[in-house]
Amino acid sequence: MAGLQGRDFLSLADFDSNEVGHILSMASQLKAKKLSLRCDRVLGLLFTKASTRTRVSFTVAMYQLGGQVIDLNPNVTQVSRGEPVQDTARVLDRYLDILAVRTFAQQELETFARYAKIPVINALTDLEHPCQVLADLMTIQENFGNLAGLTLTYVGDGNNVANSLMLGCALTGMNVRIATPSGYEPNAAIIEQARNLAAGKSEVIFTHDPQAAAKDAHVLYTDVWASMGQEQEAENRMPVFQPYQINDELIDLADNEAIVLHCLPAHRGEEITDAAMEGSHSRIWDQAENRMHVQKALLASLLGTD
Ligand code: CP
Repeated sequence: MAGLQGRDFLSLADFDSNEVGHILSMASQLKAKKLSLRCDRVLGLLFTKASTRTRVSFTVAMYQLGGQVIDLNPNVTQVSRGEPVQDTARVLDRYLDILAVRTFAQQELETFARYAKIPVINALTDLEHPCQVLADLMTIQENFGNLAGLTLTYVGDGNNVANSLMLGCALTGMNVRIATPSGYEPNAAIIEQARNLAAGKSEVIFTHDPQAAAKDAHVLYTDVWASMGQEQEAENRMPVFQPYQINDELIDLADNEAIVLHCLPAHRGEEITDAAMEGSHSRIWDQAENRMHVQKALLASLLGTD
């Protein structure tokens, strides 16, 4: 898709509904081996937070495209010694073809994008996790055949995944219900953005009642109760979040064909039970696999080799 070449992907809202549809369609064709792409470019991974899925899925996706990957671990670069982001970005721009950044502040990611002319991808910030949500949408679509009109219920912390899910659902015509404890709602500006995108097409609903939110939902989704950087809050959050667990009782309230998703890593027995993760409704492992297919489509599209 010519319009995606050279673009950054910092937020799910950087793409319109047609562009999201294009990435999902390409990813499905790549997964089914109905499409083969070559792209002998170099991807840099600059991650200041831990990662298993994002790191490995981007790496394998780029290798399968015929490209190369450089792991820019901050501990072995000058990043950890305080080299300014704008300097690092301008230098990496001269070596790399595309850069994926995982960091804390969205503003830091935006600084990378401002100073590097190559495409910059959000591989997770405290505000958003758009690559994860592309894979989530792909997983929902491969289960139901469509997205528009379905209802996704997210229970737990109103974190970066919840923020990107709201945007992803709004862009694709899905209804989204977010059930969080009071004080743990998603980002206010993204709520507004999602409501504007959904206007006249689908619903964006907030509640503190997980049972009401789960009723007849097609997708039940959760994430850890304390994200990376919030570890010191984990113990205090436990009793507050306990009613927001995905378990068999919550699944029973959802649609009979409902699927259960979790972006991983999971804390079994906290936000999701063992039975829910391993049960017949779970599509968690497909969801993890789809990170690779959707990011391959994303890389090829931003590099203009699709
Ligand atoms: N879901 C996700 O982003 O996993 P990692 O933190 O392991 O990359």
